[in-house]
Amino acid sequence: MGSKEAKTQPKGERRCSKISLTFLSLCVIGFLPPGSGFFLKSCRMTQTHAICKQKKLNTIPQDIPPTATTLDLSKNQIERIQVSNFTHLPVLSWLNLFHNNISQIDSDTFAGLISLQVLDLSRNKLAHLEDRLFIGLSNLTELRLSSNRIKVVSPTAFQSLTRLKRLDISDNNLETIASLRLILQHTPQLHELVVKGNCLKSFHSWELTNSSLSLGTLDLSRNPLNDFKITADVFPNLTVFAIGDPSSKAPMTWDVRSKTFLSLVSSLDISGLNMALADSKALLQAVNSSLTSLTMNSMKLNLRELVNISCSIPTMSTLQLRSNNLTFIDSDLLKLCVKVAELDLGINVIKKIQKDAFTSLPSLRMLSLGRNRLSSVPDATKNLQKLSTLDLRSNCIKAVDCGDFSNLTNLVILNLQNNSISALKYCLFNNLARLQNLTLQFNQIKLLQGAFKANLPKLQNMHLNGNKLTAILPGEFGGLYSLSYLSLHGNEILELCNESFVGLTNLRQLDLTSNQITREGLDTGAFNALTNLRRLDLSLNHIKYDDSTALSKMPFGALSRLEELMIPSQHYRLKSHLPVNFLQGLTNLLYFRARNIQAIYLDKDTFKYTPKLERLDISSNDLGTLSPQLFSPIQKLKSLYISRTQIRSLDFLIDANLTNLEFLQAKVNQYSVIPEDVMKSLPSLKYVDFENNSFSCDCDNAWFLNWTIASTQTQVANAYNFLCNYPDDFKEKKLLDFDITSCLQDTGFICFVSTTSTILLFTVASFFYNFLRWQLYSAYYLFLAWLFDAKQRHKQAPHQYDAFVSYNYHDEPWVIGELLPKLEGEQGWRLCLHHRDFEPGKPIIDNITDAIYGSRKTICVISHRYLESEWCSKEVQTASFRLFDEREDVLILVFLEDIPTYLLSPYHRMRKLLKKQTYLSWPRAADQPEVFWEKLRKALQTGNDHNEDNFLLNVTQTQCGEGNA
Ligand SMILES: *[C@@H]1O[C@H](CO)[C@@H](O)[C@H](O)[C@H]1NC(C)=O
Ligand SMILES: *[C@@H]1O[C@H](CO)[C@@H](O)[C@H](O)[C@H]1NC(C)=O
Ligand SMILES: *[C@@H]1O[C@H](CO)[C@@H](O)[C@H](O)[C@H]1NC(C)=O
Ligand SMILES: *[C@@H]1O[C@H](CO)[C@@H](O)[C@H](O)[C@H]1NC(C)=O
Repeated sequence: MGSKEAKTQPKGERRCSKISLTFLSLCVIGFLPPGSGFFLKSCRMTQTHAICKQKKLNTIPQDIPPTATTLDLSKNQIERIQVSNFTHLPVLSWLNLFHNNISQIDSDTFAGLISLQVLDLSRNKLAHLEDRLFIGLSNLTELRLSSNRIKVVSPTAFQSLTRLKRLDISDNNLETIASLRLILQHTPQLHELVVKGNCLKSFHSWELTNSSLSLGTLDLSRNPLNDFKITADVFPNLTVFAIGDPSSKAPMTWDVRSKTFLSLVSSLDISGLNMALADSKALLQAVNSSLTSLTMNSMKLNLRELVNISCSIPTMSTLQLRSNNLTFIDSDLLKLCVKVAELDLGINVIKKIQKDAFTSLPSLRMLSLGRNRLSSVPDATKNLQKLSTLDLRSNCIKAVDCGDFSNLTNLVILNLQNNSISALKYCLFNNLARLQNLTLQFNQIKLLQGAFKANLPKLQNMHLNGNKLTAILPGEFGGLYSLSYLSLHGNEILELCNESFVGLTNLRQLDLTSNQITREGLDTGAFNALTNLRRLDLSLNHIKYDDSTALSKMPFGALSRLEELMIPSQHYRLKSHLPVNFLQGLTNLLYFRARNIQAIYLDKDTFKYTPKLERLDISSNDLGTLSPQLFSPIQKLKSLYISRTQIRSLDFLIDANLTNLEFLQAKVNQYSVIPEDVMKSLPSLKYVDFENNSFSCDCDNAWFLNWTIASTQTQVANAYNFLCNYPDDFKEKKLLDFDITSCLQDTGFICFVSTTSTILLFTVASFFYNFLRWQLYSAYYLFLAWLFDAKQRHKQAPHQYDAFVSYNYHDEPWVIGELLPKLEGEQGWRLCLHHRDFEPGKPIIDNITDAIYGSRKTICVISHRYLESEWCSKEVQTASFRLFDEREDVLILVFLEDIPTYLLSPYHRMRKLLKKQTYLSWPRAADQPEVFWEKLRKALQTGNDHNEDNFLLNVTQTQCGEGNA
């Protein structure tokens, strides 16, 4: 303890010298050019990525650092961009302007963005692509212009886009091929062109170009084309081609002169194509030797014929027939599709499938029947032995039976999500020895009935979320020894037992969010079987502890490999606690989230079991204070989230020694001043967010304000939105608008005064020395005598009382009823109360002085009434005199009511004391009076022994602070 005091004492000197240094640096910074700072008005940076998404911006922020490589301005309200708007971003490679109101872009606007590779202008209001629009974008490879109103493309709009590879100009109003020509003539390397959803009425190759293009992908779908003519080999390298329009009224004519023109197309999408059968035949004929994948969704005409023709193409292996209103699959439909390996019949209205509908497809590996009306697993799928993927999602399957999958021995993926299955069966997955992924989420499953007890040795991922499970019975997952991911969130699981998860020896991630798990569930030791678990999410359950005493059974004692743990976020307001050894055993934990667990107190030993912790989220808990010792076992901490914790001071960070902390989120708390020592104690800090605190806009924050502007290492997020709450005439103004030059003027004045005084003093001293030497000697001896006397005063008789209690008479019931019995009765302190212990007849001032000097401490019982009447009284003045006189921590502040910080603003000295002193809050201790009394006992104990840590108040600092306020 002695060393602690030795440490505290020089701190005062250090602070004082720091303060003068700050003044100096303020003087210097006054001459630096503005704007070298690091807070962004509307954006935030993560590494070199500037994110300004959804900020209601109508101008391009000019404060983005020139090092930014990406800029996300999506979902704002920008209307027009012009030449000077992006000149400050020389290394930008990705610019996202998606979903704004841009209707005009002036020429040369992007001229400075020589590194830009991707530009997204989709979902805007562009109608006309002006001349020289994209000038300068010589490195652009991808341009997205979809969902605008583009009708006109000027001849030189695409000039200089020589490296463009992908262009998406879908859902616009392009009417003629000529506009495409104006694009293609400037983009020799274009590989992918998406023009779907425009107004093209005809496609004639001679209008497009007379030389061959490098296009590999061309999407012309959803255009009202009535005429498609290719007379020259303009697409020699085309492999992916889409054409067809589900909303077309008139049939299109097809005229492709040579059979070799589209001879490389392997993926063809003719969804909605409205064309005479003969033309369709010609189309499929053109791709006769190359087609591997055909999509025919929403076909109007000739579906059966087209299936037959395409299935005769020997290379065809993938067929998609979605949205074709199919109700019944007979054995004829696919009879020629012998080579098809992947078949997608999703989004139809299939109710029945003929038993042998798929027998002609011996190579079928993937079958999708999702989003249909099947009421049971169809017989037709039961014997597909080569099947590796079966998708039956979003049907109406109510029950599953043992024979349903028993022959699908090669199945790797089975999807049964969004059905109405209410129970599984022990034999259901009997022979699925290769199954790796099983999705069963969003059914009505109440009972597993042993389905996973002995089967599925290869299963890796299983989704059981969104069902109706209430209990996990012993050994229920016993056979799943390869399982790595299990989601059980959104069930009604209440009952766990110690064997619930036995067998899941390889499980890495378990999601149990939103169940009914209680403390008793944890006490069963259910999780001890999960020795390989890395991530456990228990959010939104009903786990609640009544106090923080150590548990006899550690819920996670065996999870030494766990890296991430999330515990309940309560929806209801019930105070809870975190037992001191709750985390025992989690030696490898990196991330702990205990957000909104309604904790009011964290024991300082809480994290002593988790030395590797890097990320801690304890936000949204009524903690009030945090102790520096809490952090001493977790020095590797990189990210700390303490928003909405009601903490009034960040001083704990000074001693917490978090030298690795890079990220601090501390929004919506109660501190008004961000002290220099705090920020200096975080040397690695890169990002900090203090939004929604009630800042005091006076010279106390001058250092912080200056640091916010000038720090190059730490980004102060949302700095622009910091609001003042004090002094009154600054209320609701912005902290950044506070003019620190007034503080600087003070400094100048102080500099002036101190220099002048030094010079004067020197002059006077030499005068005295020369002429009044003898008088000086006698004054010196007088001074020594006074010093001796002062020392004697210090050695006065031991204190008569342990504490003098100062309170308002309205609070007397509490003092008599609660405080007195506890402190005098149980803890044995001697208290001095004015109604009981003041000597009658003695002047009141003498009584007060004697009481305060005769007691080691003064306890102020603070309530609203006390502040109004008692706070400025003689008692408190005397006590604080003693405080400054003897430099001892004599004041103990006990808050009887919650008094918001802003109400304390008029009590300037009180605010200063609160920042430095220990204080105790009775309302906060409502659930935990024992802790309150214990803290009070400790506070009374300090100073008993002179060498003890006694929260020494820093007199010099207070004076400095008041000097410049
Ligand atoms: C673009 O720059 C001009 C001139 O500096 C400015 O007036 C305008 O507000 C800027 N526009 C946007 C969208 O930032
Ligand atoms: C952009 O293109 C120029 C040539 O036009 C080239 O010198 C430069 O290296 C390119 N920059 C990037 C980031 O690709
Ligand atoms: C087509 O592809 C080949 C081989 O990749 C290439 O050499 C040729 O230049 C491409 N043709 C066009 C017009 O880009
Ligand atoms: C399917 O049926 C709906 C109405 O029953 C109709 O609007 C739609 O055009 C049909 N689609 C096809 C591809 O036949």
